[in-house]
This record gives sequence, structure tokens and C-alpha cells, in this order.
Amino acid sequence: MILIECRNMNKSYQNGQIETPVLKDINLVVNDNDFLGITGPSGSGKTTLLYVLSGLEKPSDGEVILLNQNVAQYNNQQMSNIRKNQIGFIFQFYNLIPNLTVRENVMLALVIAKGKDDSRVDQLLTMVGMADYQNRYPNELSGGMQQRVAIARSLVNDPKIIFADEPTGNLDTINGNEIMNLLHRLHDEHKKTIVLVTHSDDYIKYCSRFIKLVDGKIVKDEVLSF
Ligand SMILES: Nc1ncnc2c1ncn2[C@@H]1O[C@H](COP(=O)(O)OP(=O)(O)OP(=O)(O)O)[C@@H](O)[C@H]1O
Ligand SMILES: [Mg+2]
Repeated sequence: MILIECRNMNKSYQNGQIETPVLKDINLVVNDNDFLGITGPSGSGKTTLLYVLSGLEKPSDGEVILLNQNVAQYNNQQMSNIRKNQIGFIFQFYNLIPNLTVRENVMLALVIAKGKDDSRVDQLLTMVGMADYQNRYPNELSGGMQQRVAIARSLVNDPKIIFADEPTGNLDTINGNEIMNLLHRLHDEHKKTIVLVTHSDDYIKYCSRFIKLVDGKIVKDEVLSF
């Protein structure tokens, strides 16, 4: 089943009179249970592509069909509903709210998604190995621990697709591998579709497929077999 499809998609940013083309003629299909890696040098457009694929940014031209919805035709409210209910995000710098505890951070995401069953918060914190730290604040945790909380948060609405923008970018190798193993489990055991931006070639091995961007164009698209 196709979850995301880009057809002849272009994305430029407009700053005053200046238009900066960032993504150029992207054609891409993401299928159910893909683990898609997006690689490429700094500035090649990886984050921009993630934002367009996830409906955080609209394409300038061409089509993006996300979960059977044409992103370009959706208004902000409709897009926000898709993001709240069907998509999870994981960022490089975790983006936890500093004055909320671990549990409250995950709980807040549940409330925003209008979930009522807070036993789900406990299940998720257990799954990421953070149940014992649920009353701690983010600044009392290591980077790897904060990222595990962010992963629990991304799962509260039981999303079909998880988008992760260099989730290991700020971590050492041990913690980075731990986060990658967790993503691997989400893909393998929980059958999530994952779209991962990564600088590190070491993490390509976790992907079922990867693309490489250079100057906003896809220069490589490879399926990997395990
Ligand atoms: N909001 C914006 N307005 C204008 N230009 C932008 C904006 N966001 C990104 N760009 C430009 O688009 C290009 C691609 O940026 P993007 O952040 O997608 O690259 P990236 O591959 O994720 O880089 P990195 O590996 O450093 O995170 C860059 O030239 C950047 O300056
Ligand atoms: Mg980026």
C-alpha cells in the first residue's frame, strides 16, 4: 500500500524577492512498512523533504499525496488533524518541554491527540525503557534518555508513519545505536513505516531502502535486502 507519493515535486523558499529552489523534481513513493533513509550532504534538502513528505510544508509545485490526501489542497486545520492523528515526529534536539516531567511530556501529546487512556503513557514509557524515570525532568536525563522519551511521545497517537530528522545527530555511538535499535523494533515488531534523515552511513543498514539527495535532487534510490 502506498502511504506517500510525490510527483514532479519542487519546493522553493521565498524570502522577499529572493526565491531559493531547494527540492527539484522529486518523484518518490513510500510504501507501508518501508524504512526509508534519506541521506545527503548538509544543505542538500533532507529536512525540507521530510517536512514536505509529512505535510509540515507545502510543495511549491507538483503533487504530494499523503495518506490519500493531496497536501497542496488541504487547509491548515486539515493538515493539523493528519499530523495529530496519523504521524509521529522525532527531532535531533528532542524538543521536550523543560518544565514538564517525562510523564507529563508524553501525557501532553496524548491530550493534544485527544486520547483518554493514560495507561498508554505507561506502556510507551516501559517500551522505551523510561518508566523508572517518569517523574524526572528533561534536564536530569542524558541525551539518549531524552530521545527515548521523545520516541514514546511520537507514538502516543499510534501513528502510521514516524518521521525522524537526525534523531542520533546529537548522541554518541552507543546511545545512537540504542535509538536506532528502538526504531528498528518499531519497524519490525510494531510494523511502523519510518522515514529517517541521517548523516551517518552506519545507519543505512537499518533501512529497507535509502535515497541520496544532492543539491535537492534524488541521485540514488536503492532497495536494501537484509
Ligand atoms: N525556511 C527557509 N527559508 C529559506 N531557505 C531555507 C529554509 N529552510 C531551508 N532553507 C535552505 O534550503 C536548503 C536545504 O536546507 P535543509 O535544511 O533542507 O538541508 P539539510 O539537508 O537538512 O541540511 P543539514 O544536513 O545541515 O540539516 C539550504 O540551502 C537552506 O539554506
Ligand atoms: Mg537537516
